Amino acid sequence: RRNGALAGRRVLITAGPTREAIDPVRFLSNRSSGKMGYALAWAAREAGAEVVLVSGPVSLTPPAGVEVVAVESAAQMYAQVMAQVTDCDVFIGAAAVADYTPVTAAGQKIKKHRDRLQLELVRTPDILAAVAGHRPRPFTVGFAAETERVREYARDKLARKGLDLIAANPVGPSQGFDRDDNTLWVLWPGGERDLGTASKRELARRLITLIGERYGQENST
Ligand code: C5P
Repeated sequence: RRNGALAGRRVLITAGPTREAIDPVRFLSNRSSGKMGYALAWAAREAGAEVVLVSGPVSLTPPAGVEVVAVESAAQMYAQVMAQVTDCDVFIGAAAVADYTPVTAAGQKIKKHRDRLQLELVRTPDILAAVAGHRPRPFTVGFAAETERVREYARDKLARKGLDLIAANPVGPSQGFDRDDNTLWVLWPGGERDLGTASKRELARRLITLIGERYGQENST
């Protein structure tokens, strides 16, 4: 394993949810557990890579030998990733980054004076698309969690964000987030592969092996 294409390579991975502050005590977030990203960090380390994990708030123990950079918001995750992007060979965006964040966070706790409260939200930066658009850029891998037409939307996302590879997984009430197992279908510009249904740890190992193969092919000439 350790003499595969990822041995000695720098792999940057995002994991977990982000928290978008509403006021000093409240935030918007999502159900991501970070398990897939942490499993990928573990598997990449197993493959001999130097791994940096930019992680939103999760209750997981980081894999041994992996450098963790803890962040909260999408903006912080973006800043930490962009600070490291030039130095990495492979980027894997496994975080469930909030798509929207409050336009402003209130300086003090919002009081419940009124019956209705409106929050105005603004789009967050797309970290994955920013990495793919960076020059020089790492081999860039994204995730597509979809509730329907999984492969079709993933193929579209691969092209639209300019990725080297995308891992698509069906999500819904009994699949995906905050679970130990997962189903992955992987697509790249010239092909696709079914990685099956397995534990996140096993799927992470399969995905890292495939990333090593594709990365090795693109960087062998
Ligand atoms: O467009 P969508 O959010 O479905 O894309 C999912 C992929 O994009 C994931 O790999 C996720 O980590 C990444 N992403 C990101 N920054 C965002 C939104 C999504 O890196 N603001």
